[in-house]
Amino acid sequence: MDTLETAKRTAAAAALKLVEDGMALGLGTGSTARHLVQLLAERIQMTGLRVQCCATSRDTADLARSLGIEIFDLDDLGELDLAIDGADEIDPRLNLTKGGGAAHFREKVVEKAAKRFAVIADSTKLVEKLGSTRQIPLEILPFAWKTTCRHIEALGGKVTPRIGADTEIVRTDNGNLIVDGDFGSIADPGALAKKLDTVTGLLEHGLFVGMAEVAFVAHPDGHVQTIKP
Ligand code: A5P
Repeated sequence: MDTLETAKRTAAAAALKLVEDGMALGLGTGSTARHLVQLLAERIQMTGLRVQCCATSRDTADLARSLGIEIFDLDDLGELDLAIDGADEIDPRLNLTKGGGAAHFREKVVEKAAKRFAVIADSTKLVEKLGSTRQIPLEILPFAWKTTCRHIEALGGKVTPRIGADTEIVRTDNGNLIVDGDFGSIADPGALAKKLDTVTGLLEHGLFVGMAEVAFVAHPDGHVQTIKP
């Protein structure tokens, strides 16, 4: 395993220590969350840990089931004890950019349903300001999507449809479209999030402001930094 993958696994292992018997858990999406799911499956097998899980994407649900983890609907679990997920950018206040894997809408639904939300990442995800290394993923309604993009651009961003391997605009698990918004380095993520929330047709943006309780960030030398807002 290369250094980056080792860091992702180390961060996932640190967050897994928060998991206790009997918990209802939300499982994130992406390459870091994959390590979490694998480590959770190992712990269940080795210790008989009993947890009830829901997933933030079909990919995560498929992986978890393939490893013997039962996946429930969020509606059947109600409030979750803990959600654990990766991020594309993490600022010093623990605001996040998410949605590099087009799953941020379900991720936000699941993570808002959790009493605690822990982020797992390698140190390349740390930024001073959101938007400085990644554009903001935006899930939009296919109906009149170009009109929605114009309304988003009127807020000051530049919007680019995200093109998939099939050369079509990426579709989410919800059947909607993904575009990415370039707002430059974002001085006030909360203010931009509020503005984006007003655009009809924009179903969810990838700014996660004030949601995370803790981040476990693994560095190349192996140490895990615990960050709290
Ligand atoms: C999925 O849409 C994303 O929000 C991921 O959680 C995020 O992109 C982190 O993914 P990696 O762990 O693969 O970097």
